[in-house]
Amino acid sequence: MTTYKLLLLPGDGIGPEVMAQVERVVGALGELGIASFETETDLVGGAAIDVHGKPLADETLARADAADAILLGAVGGPKWNGVAYDIRPEAGLLRLRKDLGLFANLRPALCYPALADASALKRELVEGLDIMIVRELTGGVYFGEPKEITVQADGSKRAVDTQVYTTAEIERIAHVAFDLARKRSGRVASAEKHNVMKSGVLWKEVVTKVHAEHYTDVQLEHILADNCAMQLVRRPKQFDVLVTDNLFGDILSDAAAMLTGSLGMLPSASLGAVDARGTRKALYEPVHGSAPDIAGQDIANPLAMIGSLAMCLRYSFGLGEAADLLDGAITAALAGGARTKDIAGAGAKVLGTAGMGEAVIAALRSRAR
Ligand code: NAD
Ligand code: IPM
Ligand code: MN
Repeated sequence: MTTYKLLLLPGDGIGPEVMAQVERVVGALGELGIASFETETDLVGGAAIDVHGKPLADETLARADAADAILLGAVGGPKWNGVAYDIRPEAGLLRLRKDLGLFANLRPALCYPALADASALKRELVEGLDIMIVRELTGGVYFGEPKEITVQADGSKRAVDTQVYTTAEIERIAHVAFDLARKRSGRVASAEKHNVMKSGVLWKEVVTKVHAEHYTDVQLEHILADNCAMQLVRRPKQFDVLVTDNLFGDILSDAAAMLTGSLGMLPSASLGAVDARGTRKALYEPVHGSAPDIAGQDIANPLAMIGSLAMCLRYSFGLGEAADLLDGAITAALAGGARTKDIAGAGAKVLGTAGMGEAVIAALRSRAR
């Protein structure tokens, strides 16, 4: 069996707590002969600032570059509120994404049958929900220059962020979205604001062209991002693949998370371009953050992090069956009544972070036999 090299970057807050559950799952996958991993652990975010004075050491970036895949917990927290902007915890994650070229962020929002009543919406609106948000991850206002605060002649300040997209950046993310749609139900919605933003005009133009030239078998709909937010809450099942820019994708995916019951349910895959050997750089990370309000209390839901490992099996290693097995174990644990606090309805027995990890591993063991 191939042994894959995983770099684990637990990060801050609940990051290490949810990553600990992934480490147990990795151990179980090995024991069961499903997949074999060699793991290395390193620092990112606030944890790296405390040791190295910056949120991503060059050696860590080099390790990330050499790994077969990276799993990241979460970064940030009030402890580092006072650090300089350039070395804030989040800058470490952004550098990993940018320097490794991880331009395609897949954020699946799935309503597990057992959680249809945990959603912020009525059961009938979310039952069977299966949306794939494709978020552009290395461009847009996150990285555009200038990005600065300057002091004016009158002493007041002026802050600038710059939204930039090029044809090539939009083309490659559009290809990812259309290719995914072909394997799903064949529908793509592209969200932008061409009514206000030049980058929205170009986004729409390029997505339209890529569609017309390569994917006429896929159904394409253009939607303004504000309407998209409303439609996600009004009738979410109208969406299959939803492709959008970096900032809109960030916001829309947090909103989509609540359709599934909790931000603690959404995994993600941040993928680079496929190289000549057929491999690609990839980092897997839950959509949620470091959740300082619940850190250190064994409350956090580890399913987004464990689901990110399942995405790693699928997208980095082509282990579709193993990924199905792990996703199936999550489904089975939930069907068996396992609930962390964030998804527990009235009367449910609440498990801690570790308890949920155990429930998934128990389901994995019984399904692997
Ligand atoms: P957050 O996602 O950390 O938390 C938002 C809310 O969701 C909180 O009430 C939290 O308790 C809850 N929540 C999040 N994950 C959960 C889980 N697994 N189980 C149960 N409940 C969960 O967002 P925030 O509070 O706005 O940000 C906190 C810090 O995290 C900030 O520093 C922010 O920059 C950072 N952040 C990091 C990432 C990342 O590393 N990928 C993502 C988002 C935010
Ligand atoms: C996310 C986070 C990050 C983002 C932050 C922590 C930089 O919110 O991954 O969704 O805005 O991309
Ligand atoms: Mn976010």
